[in-house]
Amino acid sequence: MVIVRPETRADISAIHAIHRASFPTDAEAMLVDRLRVGHHLTVSLVAEVRDEVVGHIAFSPVSISSGLSGVGLAPVAVSEPHRNRGVATALIRAGLTECRTAGFGWVVVLGEPEYYRRFGFRAAAEFGLNDEYGGGLAFQAVELIPGALPRDAGLVRYGPEFAEFG
Ligand SMILES: CC(C)(COP(=O)(O)OP(=O)(O)OC[C@H]1O[C@@H](n2cnc3c(N)ncnc32)[C@H](O)[C@@H]1OP(=O)(O)O)[C@@H](O)C(=O)NCCC(=O)NCCS
Repeated sequence: MVIVRPETRADISAIHAIHRASFPTDAEAMLVDRLRVGHHLTVSLVAEVRDEVVGHIAFSPVSISSGLSGVGLAPVAVSEPHRNRGVATALIRAGLTECRTAGFGWVVVLGEPEYYRRFGFRAAAEFGLNDEYGGGLAFQAVELIPGALPRDAGLVRYGPEFAEFG
């Protein structure tokens, strides 16, 4: 049974450890720490299984030139023994709901299209949006509030923390 809930201070070291173990370097773990310090963790959820934190997802602000802001999903990670049991699916679904509840109308992600399609993401290029990292088809967007996703707005910028740890 997976419980998804907002992070608390007590989760910080477990979150760091999950990202550190899930990616080749500590960049994602450091990124999450830095986003938190900068108050840019718009939505930050953990997944718990039997009182153990086994997954984490972060959303942080992104911007376009018109000033309209959305959020970017990154990173998401699940500890290895708990993978392929729907933990990330639960985190992503709950995260998108939380973002919509907080009033964010759209979300972008750089990730595997086959995976993110199931959550409603489509190639951001279809909406005239692109990213700073040359993500191509991996750069995807989903509209949470009808009409909120900007069309032909061009470059979507992640926060400065991403350049630091990109
Ligand atoms: C990607 C990750 C978060 C998925 O977590 P999970 O809890 O195992 O995911 P779920 O159980 O909800 O979903 C499993 C599905 O994801 C797919 N999947 C797992 N990793 C994937 C990847 N890197 N690319 C594409 N699909 C992937 C599985 O094949 C499976 O597909 P299926 O449902 O069609 O069988 C986890 O594998 C992980 O932490 N990986 C290392 C960190 C990472 O790459 N994060 C994503 C980029 S920020």
